[in-house]
Amino acid sequence: MIKAPVLIAGFILGAFAVGGVGLVAVTHQLTEERIAANEREATLRTLAAIVPHERMDNDPLQDVIEVSDPDLLGAESTRVYRIRGGGEPLAVVLNPVVPDGYAGPIKLLVSVLSDGTLGGVRVLSHRETPGLGDRIEIGKSDWVLGFDGKSLGDPPEAKWKVKRDGGAFDQFAGATITPRAVVKAVKNTLIYVRQEGAALYDRPKMASATNQKEESR
Ligand SMILES: Cc1cc2nc3c(=O)[nH]c(=O)nc-3n(C[C@H](O)[C@H](O)[C@H](O)COP(=O)(O)O)c2cc1C
Repeated sequence: MIKAPVLIAGFILGAFAVGGVGLVAVTHQLTEERIAANEREATLRTLAAIVPHERMDNDPLQDVIEVSDPDLLGAESTRVYRIRGGGEPLAVVLNPVVPDGYAGPIKLLVSVLSDGTLGGVRVLSHRETPGLGDRIEIGKSDWVLGFDGKSLGDPPEAKWKVKRDGGAFDQFAGATITPRAVVKAVKNTLIYVRQEGAALYDRPKMASATNQKEESR
């Protein structure tokens, strides 16, 4: 026969275990929501810097489609935020992946205005070497601002390379691989947007439930 004190101890232990698991679950849920909110904020701030935000009157995080062109955009699935103002398309912002960075894939945000020029490019994440390839980050150098206003006609398409390869874009001293890969990815993004044209603005947006799920990744 099991004695009462042993039973009581068992119940107490069990109660602590259940309580502990519950606490962890609630904390996890709250943390996930906070991370999703922070990511949303950060994406919005980055977007605002590379689109004509003073004319924007939609919520780009709610006006999203997913497209797929691994050859040009570097991933199976690529998100496209649409920026609109007064019912007019102002810009599309894509998040392509640079597949051939020095130390791994590099995630970008590329804003293409409705006239085909670049509103700007920002690096969302990378693993390039500090002091070498990491100068693609806006916080480390202004190299990435060199894309502002550029298009497939300016410089001419054949010049969409780093200077080392006969193109128009600077490389970094002792680090050509990273900027070469980023220039190619931005060029490919422009080619994709030219190819798709206005269809990118016309496609029905993703259901917001899916959108929320995607946002929290
Ligand atoms: C430890 C180490 C880290 C490096 N990191 C990078 C990098 O992040 N990006 C890059 O383009 N090159 C990096 N390089 C240099 C490349 O190996 C390569 O030499 C360079 O990109 C070629 O550019 P260059 O022809 O201008 O020298 C690194 C080299 C070493 C030894």
